[in-house]
Amino acid sequence: MSDTAKKFYLTTPIYYVNARPHIGHAYTTITADVIARRQRLLLGKENVWFLTGTDEHGQKVQRSAEAAGITPQQFTDEVSAQFRGLWQRMGITYDDYIRTTEPRHTRGVQKLFADLYERGHIYLDTYTGQYSVGEEMFVDGPPGTIGPDGKPTETVTEENFYFRLSAFQSQIIDLIESGEFCVEPEARRNEVLSFLRGDLNSGAETKLSAKGNPYVSGALKDLSISRSSFDWGIPVPEPAASTTQKKHVIYVWLDALANYMTAVGYGSDKPEDIAQLQKFWPADLHLVGKEIIRFHCVYWPAFLLAAGVPLPKKVQAHGWLLFEESKMSKSRGNIVRTETILDAFGSLKPKPIDAPGPELNDDVWKREQDLFASDVLRYFLLREIPFGQDGSFSFDALVQRYNSDLANGYGNLVSRTLSMIEKNLEGTHPALRLPETTTLSEAAQKLEASATTLVASIADDFSATRLTRVLTNVAAFITEVDGFFSLSAPWKLAKSEDFTAREDLRAVLATTAEAIRIITALLYPILPYSTAKVWEQLGLGDIEAAAKNGTLSNLTWGGLEPGTKLGPLGPIFPRADKGLIQIMTDTEQNGTTPKPEETAVATEQPTAAVEAAPAPAPATEEVTETTPTIAIDDFVKIDLRVARILIAERIPKADKLLRLEVDLGYEKRQILSGIAQWYAPEDLIGRRIIIVANLAPRKMRGLESHGMLLAASHGEDGKPILATFAEGDEIELGSRLK
Ligand code: MSP
Repeated sequence: MSDTAKKFYLTTPIYYVNARPHIGHAYTTITADVIARRQRLLLGKENVWFLTGTDEHGQKVQRSAEAAGITPQQFTDEVSAQFRGLWQRMGITYDDYIRTTEPRHTRGVQKLFADLYERGHIYLDTYTGQYSVGEEMFVDGPPGTIGPDGKPTETVTEENFYFRLSAFQSQIIDLIESGEFCVEPEARRNEVLSFLRGDLNSGAETKLSAKGNPYVSGALKDLSISRSSFDWGIPVPEPAASTTQKKHVIYVWLDALANYMTAVGYGSDKPEDIAQLQKFWPADLHLVGKEIIRFHCVYWPAFLLAAGVPLPKKVQAHGWLLFEESKMSKSRGNIVRTETILDAFGSLKPKPIDAPGPELNDDVWKREQDLFASDVLRYFLLREIPFGQDGSFSFDALVQRYNSDLANGYGNLVSRTLSMIEKNLEGTHPALRLPETTTLSEAAQKLEASATTLVASIADDFSATRLTRVLTNVAAFITEVDGFFSLSAPWKLAKSEDFTAREDLRAVLATTAEAIRIITALLYPILPYSTAKVWEQLGLGDIEAAAKNGTLSNLTWGGLEPGTKLGPLGPIFPRADKGLIQIMTDTEQNGTTPKPEETAVATEQPTAAVEAAPAPAPATEEVTETTPTIAIDDFVKIDLRVARILIAERIPKADKLLRLEVDLGYEKRQILSGIAQWYAPEDLIGRRIIIVANLAPRKMRGLESHGMLLAASHGEDGKPILATFAEGDEIELGSRLK
């Protein structure tokens, strides 16, 4: 359909809305963002399309919505907005965000289904089998089999529409073997091929494909592609629909996979959508986690072959982010929220007290903090986890890696070089020449050679998504530049009146600054915020402009114009105190306050202290150095009031939550609090407590909560102890605490 050399279309999986976003999702999205930014440097912004979105249908979502007491559409609206909000907070540069509940998607999926039906690839049949609700798939085995999600399957008998998957077995094997449909890395390719082939040593009949690849005939079974046991999905369209009594919705994976096409116009007859599809389909890269490789490398190509649509060029699967030794996932309850990291690292960049001008208002500053913190996470994930492999996440490692590579490595090199240029050369870049002193001259030449090799090798590493290698190579180069700087000792040269020393000082600083320019350009797709700051400090202006005009992609040694004035200098990567580790750990374990927009999340897993101890600082007595101080103006924003508990009761199916009705004197309120594990409802009635009265209302289990109780968090398990008043204290309900 299109000239693939001139465009790049890249996708992430569309994320399920039944779990709140965590750093596992962020890992895929960050990787995709880096690839998209790099491709934009090479091909121009208009030729790159980066798609992400949410997968909103299926029984799992329907059940989660029921549990929360809201409609599936309300539920998906809320969670989809959370994903989107997080990506915006992190500065993710997606070009489009698709939701499978959008009309454009529904229309495209129905067209795909109708085409497959018309072409004879779909038939109606009855099947009884074991269904994994968690993974939305039938699995082999007896009743009660443990499904891929670790939960027992359910026996489901259904009349379903079936897709003739078996007919595509040998064709897909050939496409993968020939590399026309590329599956990476190697281990995943082998996994898919062996699934497609069947067990060649099983004694079953083996055939040869058109290209001579052996396979066990019949090893690939037809696939059920509709469900009639629930209705939260896209209805099977006519004419297929009329061939059965029941209402069928389209299998959620057929629905979901089609997003990659519906988002770029498939199913639409508007000229601009047709043009968009022409330009961008087939996709150049589907980036996925390794657990969904079969859907992308077997089902998806089969649907497309059957519909007569070109296949995507490549599917690349990364490994899992592990936390406490196992895959981070909602069902295991071992997730780390990205917001925790953004908040903690954002606090390393406190707003300057004497911030000039109205342009630096709180929102603008918050944006800076978020983008800075997002860079830190981007760096860590891509540096620590070689693409394709599993990798462990820990707050400890995050802080250590930040300090060693960014604060002490890159940041330190930038600050010591630029401050010497500022102090000794009137803030103006000197001309790039070799130093007079032989040892320094040789070292400078070596540096230039390393830079040239680095630029060349990084191009390959980026295009093969070897991002860890990009970063280890850049880090090694930074160490080399640091070595050159120390060897040259420019601070000594600066003290000398000797002519050669003065000349060498200029040459050394010019060499180091040029190295920083190269490093910064190379790191731009990975650290978009911080490299923009360094670029400004170098005096090179707006890095986005440099990205557009080709400066960042045509990197040759010596590109820094002599005479360029430095921009204003300032710290780029302030050192992180170890206290930050504790802050993040506490926030995850017990100190999290779900924000209003996280409503649906809070309905999923409220913990006692989530509701009871919302302090952003550690919930221990120890106040670490990194606890941000606040002005009195900040404190007065919190409306703390005395209230009496009138009613306290448990909430069905929510073993951590209590529903309270409190009297504020001037009004009565409903508050939900996660203290059910620690307080019996009857012991609470009549108590006078302190509430945060102006907290934005939020919904949990379908109920509104208007405010929050104050409690101290005690001991290792963070047991909440309600803040209260002594027996004889005379105090009116509704009194304000200040
Ligand atoms: N909705 C399907 C995908 C449909 S695509 C047509 C789905 N959604 S998901 O929410 O479960 O997200 C799966 C993706 O999120 C993974 O493939 C991976 O990209 C990312 N990750 C979720 N948890 C992860 C880790 N613990 N580690 C790494 N990536 C993780 O499957």
